[in-house]
Amino acid sequence: MCGIFGYIGYKEGAAEIVFSGLKSLEYRGYDSWGVAALSKDKIFVKKRIGKIGNNNVDNLPKSDLAIGHTRWATHGGVTEINAHPHLDCLGKIAVIHNGIFENYEKIKNKLLKEGHKFISETDTEVIPHLIEDLIKKTTFEKAVRAAFNKMEGLNAVIAINTKDRSIVAARNGSPLVIGFGKNENFLSSDASALLPFTKNVYFLEDNEMAVLTDKSVKIINTKSGKVMKIKIQKLNWKVTEGQMGKYPNFMLKEIYEQPQIILEILGSPSQEVRFAKIIKKSRGAYLVGCGTASYACLAGQYLFSKITKRHINFAIGSEFGYHLDFLNKDSLVVAISQSGETMDILESVKKAKERKAKIACLTNVFGSSLYRTSDYKMLIGAGPEKAVASTKAFTGMLAHLILLAYCINGQTKEGQKILSESVKSVNDVLSPKSVKNIQKLAVIIKDKKHIYVIGRGLSYPTALESALKIKEISYIHAEGLAAGELKHGPLALVEKGTPCIAFLPDDETYGANLAGAMEMKARGGFVIGISFKPHEVFDYFIKVDNADEATIIPNVIVAQLLAYHLTIDKGLDPDKPRNLAKSVTVK
Ligand code: BG6
Repeated sequence: MCGIFGYIGYKEGAAEIVFSGLKSLEYRGYDSWGVAALSKDKIFVKKRIGKIGNNNVDNLPKSDLAIGHTRWATHGGVTEINAHPHLDCLGKIAVIHNGIFENYEKIKNKLLKEGHKFISETDTEVIPHLIEDLIKKTTFEKAVRAAFNKMEGLNAVIAINTKDRSIVAARNGSPLVIGFGKNENFLSSDASALLPFTKNVYFLEDNEMAVLTDKSVKIINTKSGKVMKIKIQKLNWKVTEGQMGKYPNFMLKEIYEQPQIILEILGSPSQEVRFAKIIKKSRGAYLVGCGTASYACLAGQYLFSKITKRHINFAIGSEFGYHLDFLNKDSLVVAISQSGETMDILESVKKAKERKAKIACLTNVFGSSLYRTSDYKMLIGAGPEKAVASTKAFTGMLAHLILLAYCINGQTKEGQKILSESVKSVNDVLSPKSVKNIQKLAVIIKDKKHIYVIGRGLSYPTALESALKIKEISYIHAEGLAAGELKHGPLALVEKGTPCIAFLPDDETYGANLAGAMEMKARGGFVIGISFKPHEVFDYFIKVDNADEATIIPNVIVAQLLAYHLTIDKGLDPDKPRNLAKSVTVK
């Protein structure tokens, strides 16, 4: 969803500070961007469509107070007029917004009758006009609170005006973090963007509002107006973690970070040992996630059955809300989410909590909404993931689930052993010889319109995630299929030269999966075998050494690399694919 950043303090380069904050938030939305700076009681705005790229805010005046926004369009097309910030009739109030203002039309129609003029198609533009209307009878702070309380939906709103030297920010649903400095204060949609400026943060809770000046930060409950006591937290993250370093983009950096991350996970099983007890006590556990995380949940269902001989349910986050009526106080919902801010997950968790279910989370972001609302907390520990297509967080999720399953069996050492096997296999996949082989395949199939990926057992979620990676960033239509389902329909899509990827690890699925590859070959498919040994049915072979259940990790890294090189060969941006965002904080 959108990225938001704000600065108030003693430095005269507020617009530049906000602009640099937006750069590190751009993975949250890159349809357009904008900055508003307050100088000599006048608000100056610069906004452009598209990515920030080599733009700048040099033409904005020197200022010590500014707010900025990167947009993932929901209401209104991708135009400069629809970009944030939005102003009131007199240009004296500026607002940026993250979320969906569900009842904006009713309020807009009332304001139109009172003579307000609107220039954009957005729901957001109604907010500065609403504040303009309410401020007639009260202070700016109170007008913003009153306006926020009239808004329905999940939103974060940040407002400034020409009279008060303050930034007022309120949230209900969409994330907001306050950063504390000396005679300066910051706010951001996510804590990692604050790292270059401060490590002292406060994660705004739902229905809380912050009033920032350069000297102070006041937190108010939006409903009661009561001033809240807050606990400032210190982030123990390194700034460099969020930077590209020697890599051309974040996706490649994050792909090559995976061996080290899995080594760190297998090296400290304390979370899993603790969590195993909680799972064992639960009466009915559910793994719930969205996008890539949902495939980790599906893999979790296979892993638990295979390793612990236990059934754990799997559900897609955006659907779980429609089939959880059976949950009760003995149920355990394990919500898996890289960002911890995906609204479909937070909404499902809220509904599950209403049924007294216990919530556990596996997330990559300390202090995220999911982390704070969960009863039991597990951190993936993959470091900030900036590329929109998830890679290291996914294999991190798998490594935790594999270790957790073995811990439930009291076989932690066994779990650590096969994960270290998988690290060896991953290093082979990332070796220059192997990468060259995958690059060559990308050149062969990059102009194809359709790619099919098959797998059985654990290789089914592998196939689904592999197809998603190819779709997300190369824009080639790819479909992940349960190999056994081929002959029940999808096989009709295979014709001469159709790329057909088959995952054939050395496990109980090998034979039946090979049959699937042969069925595709028989219809002219170009069969790409990802396996521990070659086979004559393969038109192209990519070797992946066996690591028992953990073979899913090197297997999916082959697909990550293939999707990456297809994208590069097509001259596309692997970090910021069109129409997507890193975490979607709207329903
Ligand atoms: C999408 C991301 O917005 O959300 C995907 O582009 C991700 O990469 C999905 O898998 C779920 O996100 P999260 O943060 O809940 O794991």
